[in-house]
Amino acid sequence: MSWPSTQKNLGTFSTTLMEEDAAKVFSAYAPYNAVDSCAYPEFITMEENCGTFFLNLFNAHNHKDYTYFSTSGSSEALFMSLLFMKSYWKLRNQGNNHKPNFIICSNGHTAWHKAATYLDVTLKVLPIDPDKLNFNETHLFENIDNNTIGVGCTLGATTTLVYDEVEKINIALNDYRNKKNIFIPIHVDAASGGFIAPMVQKDLLWDFRLNHVMSINVSSHKYGQVYPSLGWLCVKKEISADDLAHESHYLGKSIKRYPIQFSHSASHLASQDYYVKNLGKSGYEKLIKQLFDMQTKLCEMLRTFEEIKIITPGSGPSLPGVIFTLRGSSEHNLAGLASYLTMQGWHLPTFNLPQPKQDMLVSRIIVRNGFTQDLVEALKKDIGNYFLSTPE
Ligand SMILES: Cc1ncc(COP(=O)(O)O)c(C=O)c1O
Repeated sequence: MSWPSTQKNLGTFSTTLMEEDAAKVFSAYAPYNAVDSCAYPEFITMEENCGTFFLNLFNAHNHKDYTYFSTSGSSEALFMSLLFMKSYWKLRNQGNNHKPNFIICSNGHTAWHKAATYLDVTLKVLPIDPDKLNFNETHLFENIDNNTIGVGCTLGATTTLVYDEVEKINIALNDYRNKKNIFIPIHVDAASGGFIAPMVQKDLLWDFRLNHVMSINVSSHKYGQVYPSLGWLCVKKEISADDLAHESHYLGKSIKRYPIQFSHSASHLASQDYYVKNLGKSGYEKLIKQLFDMQTKLCEMLRTFEEIKIITPGSGPSLPGVIFTLRGSSEHNLAGLASYLTMQGWHLPTFNLPQPKQDMLVSRIIVRNGFTQDLVEALKKDIGNYFLSTPE
């Protein structure tokens, strides 16, 4: 059996296979500009339908207290969330001319670094917990100061797949507020986890149920099942200053919007709307559970090789995928495995874990739609052949 290279790309989070009917919607809307809601008012309804779905998913109980908007992806959503946190801090710290800072962990996405540079914010990057591989809240207090505009947590880190324990960070920030009377907002980067945790880890507290969580982003083109590129930001109105939304008139009526992007294809919005209507929460739940069943099968397959050591899944919740390394052997190594697999048409990314585990080289396999038992079997054969080979 042969698969397209998109299915043999083991490392990507992006959707590469949409349902047939959804793919038809995607094609049908390609010529439409999503920003032009004057000509195509149905896009307003679609955005509202998706936004309401996300607010419910993230337990935003009083919808009127929140706003939401679509973006080109999670990177743009992170940028906007940092902008909101900076403006919220400025409003409450008028006359303070110090440079603001924002705290993330070394598992944070590279988009934070870019946003902080562009927005002139100092990024404080704390080391991850070396055992749990997620945000270590014990370092928080020594890093927060009067110029801290917020804390960024990740629900399913790009490099480890592990969730940050947002509830613990929230408790720490409540303690800080009780001592200093300063409120520090949390942004949760749920680029992948936003479509996972509400479906299969329902009791996990990470979303708007926590009082410091002021904004959450999610990518439709990851576990939302839409081809790239579409993301969302849900944010409490308390921090989304009105003057950061810009108004234009030339399309036929006044359009006031927050996102940076203006013209973009409506394919993504229309497809996300299709899935929200046709799958709904229960449909996504079914799909995500199947991915975790496939993750179990993938782990079983990888464990048949004594050379392979699985890092994620570990003890805490994580995304459906596997992070693994190789037990010390001079002959076979991850770089060798990755290049052997490349020759067989696979793509297996290899990278270092975040600080302080930067000496550990790992590889990532993401379980997503289209990851089948046949694919696991084919991969097993090629990994087995690599370990039987004698590297040059
Ligand atoms: C945790 C996390 N945040 C942000 C991003 C950036 O998302 P996008 O590609 O939608 O801009 C990614 C992408 O993999 C991610 O994994």
